[in-house]
Amino acid sequence: MSARRFQDPDVTGTFVLSPDTEQQVAWWEAKYPRERRQSAVIPALWIAQKQNGGWLSEPAMRAVADRLGMPYIRVYEVATFYTMFNLAPVGTWHVQLCGTTPCALRGAEALKSTCEARIGPKGSVTSDGKLSWVEVECLGACVNAPMVQINDYYYEDLTPESLAGVLEDLAAGRAVKPGTYVVRQTSAPEGGATTLLDDALYDGSRAVPLTVIPGAPAPATAAAEPVATAPAAPEIQTKRSPEAPVDVVPPGDRPQGLASARAGQADDLKLIAGIGPKIEATLNSLGVFHFDQIAAWTRANVEWVDGYLSFKGRIDREDWIAQAKQLASPSSGKGARE
Ligand code: FES
Repeated sequence: MSARRFQDPDVTGTFVLSPDTEQQVAWWEAKYPRERRQSAVIPALWIAQKQNGGWLSEPAMRAVADRLGMPYIRVYEVATFYTMFNLAPVGTWHVQLCGTTPCALRGAEALKSTCEARIGPKGSVTSDGKLSWVEVECLGACVNAPMVQINDYYYEDLTPESLAGVLEDLAAGRAVKPGTYVVRQTSAPEGGATTLLDDALYDGSRAVPLTVIPGAPAPATAAAEPVATAPAAPEIQTKRSPEAPVDVVPPGDRPQGLASARAGQADDLKLIAGIGPKIEATLNSLGVFHFDQIAAWTRANVEWVDGYLSFKGRIDREDWIAQAKQLASPSSGKGARE
């Protein structure tokens, strides 16, 4: 951090906090106990800087110090330490260019050349007062390096060309989009997501219903109850789910299915953690419509369905049987539509 000194020749001038500034400073001040109100000095200086056209004159610092009951030197220390406080007039659009290592490795040096070519040497303001720039330390957006902050917004993943375009548009009064300048969502991978692409993460099939706590033992009443037995199915559906693998003959025994839901009303199998809309539709196509049917599955049935759905043990891992028993119990009020 280089030494930063006042460059304000008018140290005898005055600065009065505007009513709007005063209101905002009071809002920040109220966050702290009265005897600690000096803790609001950084936001107070930031607000005063905005009132003063983007920089802090020495009278503005004194006004803040008086407002918060602080010795002037304490406010000078803060204002001269943080590069967010400008100690000399800046342009309408003030560029803070990050030159710290991650941004440097990603091309910040070339961005400096762009600023020098368009604005002038570091710390200068264009003759029309539109643009100025300084180099600062890390602004905390390293994942989108190289980047700059212009007034209140970040412009990220820049190239010399894209930064030059931003500067030209701002100087000309055209609207400019803050944020990234490549195809990415915030700090996600460029070009789109590369992980967490499994649809099952988003289709609700892994959602845990509020009625079931994963890993919790089944209630004693439900465990002790004899497993409800599905009535004999008059007809077994044989249609496979379109999603099911066609080249796999599952081991085990296919569970007995129903031609249709009893009384025309299927249970909401999605209440079982691990079953989403797609899997529910597949189970229905197998003639499985009710919790008590799943609760009654034998080990061989579980093995068959697990293989049919290419689950590799997921039915056991998610403990569908215990969940189904609980949901099928009359006390759950969720199924057992007889
Ligand atoms: S190094 Fe540039 S934002 Fe962190």
